[in-house]
Amino acid sequence: MLMVKKIAVIGAGLMGAGIAYVSAWNGFDVTVVDIKQEFVDAGMERIRTDVMTGIDKGKISMGDAEGLMSRLSATTDTEAAVKDADLVIEAIFENMDVKKEVFAKIDAAAPAHAILATNTSSLSIDELAGATKRPDKFIGMHYFSPVPAMKLLELVVGEETSDETIAACENVGKTQGKRTVIAKNSPGFIVNRLLMPAMREALLMLERGEATKEEIDTAMVSIGKAPAGPFTLGDFVGLDITFNAMSTLYREIGDCFKPPETLKSLVDAGHIGMKSKKGFYSYGAEEDAPEPPKGVDGNWIVERINIPAIREAMLLVDDDIASVEDINMAMKLGASWPMGPFEMLDQLGVDKVRDFIKNLHEDFGECYSVPKYLG
Ligand code: NAI
Repeated sequence: MLMVKKIAVIGAGLMGAGIAYVSAWNGFDVTVVDIKQEFVDAGMERIRTDVMTGIDKGKISMGDAEGLMSRLSATTDTEAAVKDADLVIEAIFENMDVKKEVFAKIDAAAPAHAILATNTSSLSIDELAGATKRPDKFIGMHYFSPVPAMKLLELVVGEETSDETIAACENVGKTQGKRTVIAKNSPGFIVNRLLMPAMREALLMLERGEATKEEIDTAMVSIGKAPAGPFTLGDFVGLDITFNAMSTLYREIGDCFKPPETLKSLVDAGHIGMKSKKGFYSYGAEEDAPEPPKGVDGNWIVERINIPAIREAMLLVDDDIASVEDINMAMKLGASWPMGPFEMLDQLGVDKVRDFIKNLHEDFGECYSVPKYLG
């Protein structure tokens, strides 16, 4: 198996800087690349801030910080950065054409043994691999933000990704302090694929007037033990990002992921959550008065949101995209769910979940068909 020593990180933005930091911190030699010196400098500044935070929290000693910084270098010259790299991790803008162009350039300059990885959150690994002459050494390494804090790393495996490539990247992830899970290349991979049905169900419940957003958020936190309800979470993450993630699944999988009108209108109006001071809720001076409650049972709200997400998890297993264990782990570490979807299934009971889905299927149609997993 290839033992990775030197990593080139392409893109020194939010994700690239985070990946460079956890890599250098855990002993890899790292070169970070961006297109302009000012972006390189901003990325290095971000890394220095992470290091200072580590020192302030007592997690990093001054000696370790010096070691970390000595393993890091930065440049605007992609070819020079990748020419002796064992692994190249790309974290540039989320644009297929730009990424393909960059990968063709990296492929031509990197040594033959080097693995090429992308941190894309939504683009096809196989299509990106097609821009290189080494699809067997191409893989998705999907980190979560903020990279130093989030423990999950989704390894996204393309049609031609070799077992050696997967093993080498599992090793890198482990060394970086991450828990790796494996997903076959498919829209949304694991975490985004399962987050979207939960968000969509909450929105549809709201649009049908079954519960208010306050009731839904409260039930998901107090009964569902989620760290935040779907509407608060959406406002925090950004409704533009949520809308884009759902739209990708809508485009690639179909109508069952169509973004509900409420989400679309908020985004169209520029109400994209906390960063614009208005999303599902208002933040700042004038806060909206909550709608009068509908009085629905909180347990029903939680099941009505969680069971379609559990169903989606079963489809991933039916389609051989990921394992039960990896899906459970991914949702706990990547989405802070209190339990994995299959652990929820065990708690609710298979018969109850099957009946619940059968009823949804009768009431709302094909988007709720019973997965093979349930027999
Ligand atoms: P960002 O906008 O903070 O950083 C992108 C950086 O790439 C910029 O500094 C830009 O100048 C640089 N860049 C663009 N073209 C380049 C090139 N040809 N060569 C070198 N550098 C170049 O974006 P962010 O948020 O770091 O996202 C990067 C990638 O990570 C995207 O594919 C995104 O989908 C993915 N991702 C983002 C997450 C997030 O929470 N922001 C989470 C997981 C994945």
